[in-house]
Amino acid sequence: MPLFGMIEKKKKAGEKMYTKESPIAVFDSGVGGISVLRELVQLMPNENYLYFGDSANAPYGDKTTQQVRELTMEAAQMLVARNIKALVVACNTATAAAITLLRQQYPELIVIGIEPALKLAADRFPQGRVGVMATQVTLREEKFAHQAERFPEVTIELIPAPGLVELIEAGQEDSLDTRNLLEKLLLPYVGKLDALVLGCTHYPFVKKQIARILGDSTQLLDGGEGTARQTRRCLEKQDLLNPGPGSVQMENSSHDAALLERGMQLLNREVAV
Ligand code: DGL
Repeated sequence: MPLFGMIEKKKKAGEKMYTKESPIAVFDSGVGGISVLRELVQLMPNENYLYFGDSANAPYGDKTTQQVRELTMEAAQMLVARNIKALVVACNTATAAAITLLRQQYPELIVIGIEPALKLAADRFPQGRVGVMATQVTLREEKFAHQAERFPEVTIELIPAPGLVELIEAGQEDSLDTRNLLEKLLLPYVGKLDALVLGCTHYPFVKKQIARILGDSTQLLDGGEGTARQTRRCLEKQDLLNPGPGSVQMENSSHDAALLERGMQLLNREVAV
């Protein structure tokens, strides 16, 4: 008993090594989470952000759940060791596979996970037809099934998009291959959806290309803004908002300088409407 008590105390002391100035870590399998980071920066410009993209292991979306879980826990361990004050899992796939485990592992830390913006779609179209485009892992995980059960009146079309993340990681947002893939996936839904949920954080970077195919009759929704607002609420509640000034630091497991530069470009790119 005394030994257990000592270990517990040490662990807790270690976990609370952050202050208001400490970074908010934002994590994704690659560059996709930058679509969430830009919402965070817009809402809370005074914060210090540490963005980590695991491009060396991307895509996560066609791996086994166990593999995604292991990669996510490994990244989280590395980030928590840097005395972060919050962890934003800016990856729907990692959230689906590992958010419960993350919260168990780091009970003292603010851990926010993005998930497909189905609630937002259901609020707007309570009896509507909604497409959810996401990775295979996100769509097959129990977490998504539970989410969908909450909206029995909404007709949900599942649209997995294998190959799309790889094209976006390679900087091919507007290439012929990307446009062809999007057409193949989405032409069958033209005029048939009230909303399309972009359930992977990479997809907002091809929002313009998707809108070109689906037209004005389909609203394109994602969870980036909601995730940023939820993060602010949690920080506010614990009096952890930073008075400023803020900063953004980008890191990537691929250690590719060009990729980091592209990350910064994506962060500053104008958002398509
Ligand atoms: N950006 C991630 C998401 O939100 C997934 C990308 C991947 O497959 O690695 O789901």
